[in-house]
Amino acid sequence: MVPKLLLLQKLQAAADRRYGVGSGRRYQLPHRHPSAAGRFTACFVACLLALAAVTTFALALTLHRPDPAAAYAASPRGGGGYAVVINTWKRYDLLRRSVAHYSGCAGVDVVYIVWSEPEEPTEDLRRSILNCSRWGGGAAAEVRLVINTEDSLNNRFIPIQGLTTDAVFSVDDDLIVPCSTLRFAFGVWQSAPSAMVGFVPRMHWLADPGSDTKEYRYGSWWSVWWTGTYSMVLSKASFFHRQYLDLYTNHMLPSIRDYVNENRNCEDIAMSFLVANVTGAPPVWVQGRIFEIGSSGISSLKGHGLQRSRCLNTFSAMYGHMPLVATTVKAVDSRTSWFCIVRLAYLCA
Ligand SMILES: *[C@@H]1O[C@H](CO)[C@@H](O)[C@H](O)[C@H]1NC(C)=O
Ligand SMILES: *[C@@H]1O[C@H](CO)[C@@H](O)[C@H](O)[C@H]1NC(C)=O
Repeated sequence: MVPKLLLLQKLQAAADRRYGVGSGRRYQLPHRHPSAAGRFTACFVACLLALAAVTTFALALTLHRPDPAAAYAASPRGGGGYAVVINTWKRYDLLRRSVAHYSGCAGVDVVYIVWSEPEEPTEDLRRSILNCSRWGGGAAAEVRLVINTEDSLNNRFIPIQGLTTDAVFSVDDDLIVPCSTLRFAFGVWQSAPSAMVGFVPRMHWLADPGSDTKEYRYGSWWSVWWTGTYSMVLSKASFFHRQYLDLYTNHMLPSIRDYVNENRNCEDIAMSFLVANVTGAPPVWVQGRIFEIGSSGISSLKGHGLQRSRCLNTFSAMYGHMPLVATTVKAVDSRTSWFCIVRLAYLCA
């Protein structure tokens, strides 16, 4: 406030000198405008100066940006970190790549691989993925296999023996989230540890908002993009508290797990319902680029939207109400928001 006032006073003094205005009208800006060309030049120069200043500042920031990873590295493993739980299905090449990636991210305590195939992993595969932990020069996280005898989509939410962190990052084997983005999302989760915090938002829409019948439609990425509204973040790339593993497996309605099992779909919607019913709050969507390294998931199959809508309606009938809560809040890493410099040009135009 004070510097602004000082600046105003200086400007006023300058204007007074130029326009010969008396001291009785101190805080009135002059009514006469300089010529349009003069104004444009002044503005242009001001914009250039501002741009140069911000660029320098951003550069300095990039060079001397304090690294939050240092804090995690200093604390013992399990203390302030999170576990990565990778759900995989017969895509060994992708699995190798994602294990190598996540085990090298700072803050990762252990990488768990949820294995649901009828055959146990071969000795070859075991060696190559468990050895990932040594790729990062010793600093990488430990990798562990969780072998399930039954093939079920519910497996990814079975509580893990020996899990020591509160935070779990659940991810599909074909999704790569850059370490820095992951670290930022973990920070968001720490501020809201009861919420699901993730990168893939989805929405439930009323099929006919005017009528009394509550029929829901699954809103894919496009509807979220268009409206900025979402009510779920999918468990194929999201943080949540480990307590939800226990709630999902041991306390959620068995009929929901059965439905997931039989239809081989919607375990992520079921988890979204569970968390929403516990918290009564929406999830948190984190802005950040994530990379898909394979493209044979079920979401590319025809009729996917229809199946997902049926899950919404079945689950909400089982709950007796719709627990999902919609929101438009999005978490953005403010270190990257200086790109909004473009707005400055608007101020001058
Ligand atoms: C890791 O690879 C090395 C050789 O590259 C091998 O000697 C070692 O046994 C492997 N470790 C595991 C746990 O498989
Ligand atoms: C939803 O939450 C309510 C209140 O916390 C609880 O009583 C109910 O059992 C939950 N519903 C399901 C299906 O878990």
